[in-house]
Amino acid sequence: MAEIAELTAQKESEIEELRIRLMGKKGEITQLFDDFRNVLPEQKRELGQVLNTLKVAASQKIDELREVLEQNPGESSSAYDLTKPGDLVELGGRHPISVTRDEILSIFNKFGYVLAEGPEIEDDWHVFGALNFPPEHPARDMQDTFFITSGDNPVLLRTHTSSVQVRAMEKMKLPIRIVCPGRVFRNEAISARAHCIFHQVEGLYIDKKVSFADLKQAVLLFAREMFGEETQIRLRPSYFPFTEPSAEVDVSCNICKGKGCNICKGTGWLEIMGCGMVDPNVLEANGIDSTQYTGFAFGMGIERIAMLKWQVKDLRHYFENDIRFLKEFDTVI
Ligand code: PHE
Repeated sequence: MAEIAELTAQKESEIEELRIRLMGKKGEITQLFDDFRNVLPEQKRELGQVLNTLKVAASQKIDELREVLEQNPGESSSAYDLTKPGDLVELGGRHPISVTRDEILSIFNKFGYVLAEGPEIEDDWHVFGALNFPPEHPARDMQDTFFITSGDNPVLLRTHTSSVQVRAMEKMKLPIRIVCPGRVFRNEAISARAHCIFHQVEGLYIDKKVSFADLKQAVLLFAREMFGEETQIRLRPSYFPFTEPSAEVDVSCNICKGKGCNICKGTGWLEIMGCGMVDPNVLEANGIDSTQYTGFAFGMGIERIAMLKWQVKDLRHYFENDIRFLKEFDTVI
């Protein structure tokens, strides 16, 4: 204690010395004020202001030093202690959508799928035309979007990352095995279960002799990696213009283990993705010989997978940036 008092007294006298050196009777600033008398009248205004600013700054600094000393008595130095630990910077966390996306991608990575990305602002051909949606066809109603231009091949916001698969078919050499993550847009009324913005991971595999059995196996392995070893899958016939046959994939509910609960609405199953064999029309539209090659594709919404994983009840939480929601996830980097 004695040491602290001594140190404080020493600091106090250093500050007082500084005050006297600057603003005492013969202080440097006081002298400047004395010299001010000799300044030419036309310069008085400007220099007077400079001097006053200087005086105010100096006395503020001295007050500040006194305050710091008062708050940290005995610290070997004041605000300028370079050995003091820095201010704590809070680490951010990753968004649950990013965490889920990376988990999905790393599973497919292990299966040999490479990453492919493409633009969010697309043209009609890459989102619809090349995927076997004829102009004016009612299948387009399933994926209405936001059009930026009109005309023959309008510019629009992509409704799925299948557009990235089209771009891959255009430029990649066969065989192709890709996963396409990204943000997509649809003209939907916003609710707890739908949004006009969401995220997808889609996949495409094209080679000689790719079969529906390969698709089923890929989906099963993915589901087990993502939702646990015991997970079962179920394929229900469905329709997409770009795949034939098409299916919706359900996984067994890992909350009730298939018995039926409120998460799976009593069915024991949860829908996670759409999939199917690439329609030969799609292969041909993208310059691939459909007599030689076959392929499968699948697509899932990341929000949906993340909702199942963490039992989030309302999709809108993902976009509201409410720190209380985001902190619920153990996602510190
Ligand atoms: N593109 C489809 C969608 O967004 C998902 C899908 C991809 C379905 C590939 C089948 C095959 O709804």
